[in-house]
Amino acid sequence: MSQEKDKVFFRNFSLIVGALVVMMVIFIIMARIFGVDDSAELENQSASVAERTAPVGEVNVAGAEEQAAPAVTEVAAAGDGDAGKKIYDGLCAACHGSGIPGIPQLGDKEAWAPRLAQGNDTLYANAIDGFTGSSGMMMPPRGGGTGSDDEVKAAVDYMISNSQ
Ligand code: HEC
Repeated sequence: MSQEKDKVFFRNFSLIVGALVVMMVIFIIMARIFGVDDSAELENQSASVAERTAPVGEVNVAGAEEQAAPAVTEVAAAGDGDAGKKIYDGLCAACHGSGIPGIPQLGDKEAWAPRLAQGNDTLYANAIDGFTGSSGMMMPPRGGGTGSDDEVKAAVDYMISNSQ
C-alpha cells in the first residue's frame, strides 16, 4: 500500500521536475532570441559616459576657429535672414565680443568710425582675406572659419549696423 503511494509520488514528482526542465530550456532559448546583446549595450554605456563626463567649457583661444567653424555650416544650412548675427555669435564674437584691447569690439563706435570711413568694400575684403593693421593683431581670413563670402559679408554688415 505504502509502496504503491511511493510509486505514484515518484511518478508525479518526476513529471514536475521534467516540466520544469523543459520550461528552463524554453526560457534559455527565449533569452537568446529576445535578450539584449551585451556588447552593444556596453558600447552605448561608454558612449553616454563620455558624453556626460565631457568638459563643460573649453578654453577658446587657439582652437577658436575649429570650434566655431561648424556654426557657419549650420547657418548655411538653415539659410535664414539672421545669418549675419549667427555667424558673428558663433565665430567673430570670440574676438570682436571679447573685450581684447586692439580688436574693434561690437558696438564700440569710436573704434569703428575710422574703419567705416574706409567704405564697406574694404571692410568686406579685409574680413574675407584677413588683415593686420594698426593693432598689430591679425584678423584671420573669414574669421578663421569656412563661411562663404556672402556669409562673411553678412557678419560684417551685422557688426557695422551695431557699431555706428
Ligand atoms: C582671432 C580674432 C578674430 C576673429 C575670430 C575675427 N576677427 Fe575681425 N578683426 C580682428 C582684429 C585683431 C582686427 C583688427 C586688425 C587691425 O586693425 O589691426 C579685426 C578687424 C576686423 C574688421 C575691420 C577691418 C578693417 O579694415 O578695419 C572687420 C570688418 C572684421 N574684423 C570682421 C570680422 C568678422 C566678420 C569676423 C567673423 C567672421 C571676424 N572679424 C572674426 C580679429 C578677429
